Amino acid sequence: MRVVELFSGAGGMSLGLQQAGFEILRAYDAWPVAVENYNRNIGNHAVIADLKDLLSIVPEILSLTPDLICGGPPCQDYSSAGNRKEADNARLTMAFAMIVSIVKPQWFMMENVIGCAKSATWREARMLLKRAGYGFTESRINASHYGVPQSRRRLFVIGRIGERDDFLASSIAAAAQPSMTLRDLFGVVTPAAIYFPATSEARRSIWGPDEPAPTIRERSIRPIPASYQPHPDDSALILNGFVYSRPFRAGRGVRSIDEPFPTVTRTVWERPTSRYLSSPHPDDPVAAAETAVLKVHQISRIQGFPASWEWRASAKQDILQMIANAVPAPVATALGRVILDRESGKTTPEIAGGFLQWLVKRGRSKASARNVKASAGRARRILGGRTFDNLALEIATLESHQEFHEMRKPTQSDLRQALRILAEYQTSSGRLQKKPQQATAQPLIGLADAA
Ligand SMILES: C[S@@+](CC[C@H](N)C(=O)[O-])C[C@H]1O[C@@H](n2cnc3c(N)ncnc32)[C@H](O)[C@@H]1O
Repeated sequence: MRVVELFSGAGGMSLGLQQAGFEILRAYDAWPVAVENYNRNIGNHAVIADLKDLLSIVPEILSLTPDLICGGPPCQDYSSAGNRKEADNARLTMAFAMIVSIVKPQWFMMENVIGCAKSATWREARMLLKRAGYGFTESRINASHYGVPQSRRRLFVIGRIGERDDFLASSIAAAAQPSMTLRDLFGVVTPAAIYFPATSEARRSIWGPDEPAPTIRERSIRPIPASYQPHPDDSALILNGFVYSRPFRAGRGVRSIDEPFPTVTRTVWERPTSRYLSSPHPDDPVAAAETAVLKVHQISRIQGFPASWEWRASAKQDILQMIANAVPAPVATALGRVILDRESGKTTPEIAGGFLQWLVKRGRSKASARNVKASAGRARRILGGRTFDNLALEIATLESHQEFHEMRKPTQSDLRQALRILAEYQTSSGRLQKKPQQATAQPLIGLADAA
């Protein structure tokens, strides 16, 4: 799938999508420093552009014919660390929605702070995208379940032309992993190159630490060479066991390396103030003054950038801003894979358990309810995981499949009927399938939502 990214920053989202297998066609950002860092590390896709200038940008993107447009429009206006006044910055969310609505790629993915979901601007942008024909899944994601040791919570809206709302929620929930900790990242010694003896001479045996390892076989496991030295900063962190992160409001400042780090912000590296030292949070496990001091390269890795990433800027503050702005690449990779799997028909939306209860409440026996659910699932698989906002189109598409043609007439009518009943249930309950519980259940412990 071919991608255009808007508001690309230094490229966290592009990097993650590239690692999932997407081809990045072009990326746009107004900040020259971010564009330079993007092009140095990812490839020459990024260009400097003011995305408010729709008249210049839209024709160019139309000519690229992307399959997906993604982006994280600036979030200060919605952020709990900002003043929450929706002004110029929030209008850029509208610019994103307008570009998507005119170019109309099959898919879009937008990232923002959680506060955006309830904003007046998103309501307006959502309406525009709906009118352009998109169905959405709006997920609140905790990044620590998607490959980085950081309890960063963000809103991801994924849209696809013609779908019913929530069409991807069950697959996003299924992609969640157990929460990752700082020790998971820094405690595992990661040499610059890893030797995995290949099974044939035609295959390579040396793998970098920033790519997935080949299938691990018994004979691939070799002891770490005695000569290997972990990075001294990482050893210091692991030995200490605790870090300080400038707390948000009255939150906890001291964190153990056996928990995810809080949301990375531009000021996260600041040392404890004398006020905090004299009046620490009651739940701090050790004194803030005794904690390890994170280096910029470590903050960058907590945000999912690979160790090989080269940051260049005249001010440290700019580097921290680019890091804090980014979508952690592993999160984008995980969501990118969810999109690719649905696009290729490898996954189908889960039908909520509530459907069975609803059928029984309407007078069906349990056995009959189970049959309807099974037929609906079968129809979804024939449809390659697609859902259709328009029921007539859904049934017509089902009927166009060869597999459907080859079925007996009674089975065909069961499948049609099951889709009709499912659509009725979805309309009455206002949801397609289970919400991603695991991905959203993490409480915020005094964390800033600020990008
Ligand atoms: C939240 S960051 C996006 C980070 C990016 N998604 C990543 O993963 O690294 C928002 C970006 O919007 C850019 N931006 C702000 N106003 C803009 C405008 N008018 N046109 C283009 N980009 C703009 C900022 O420079 C910033 O890099």
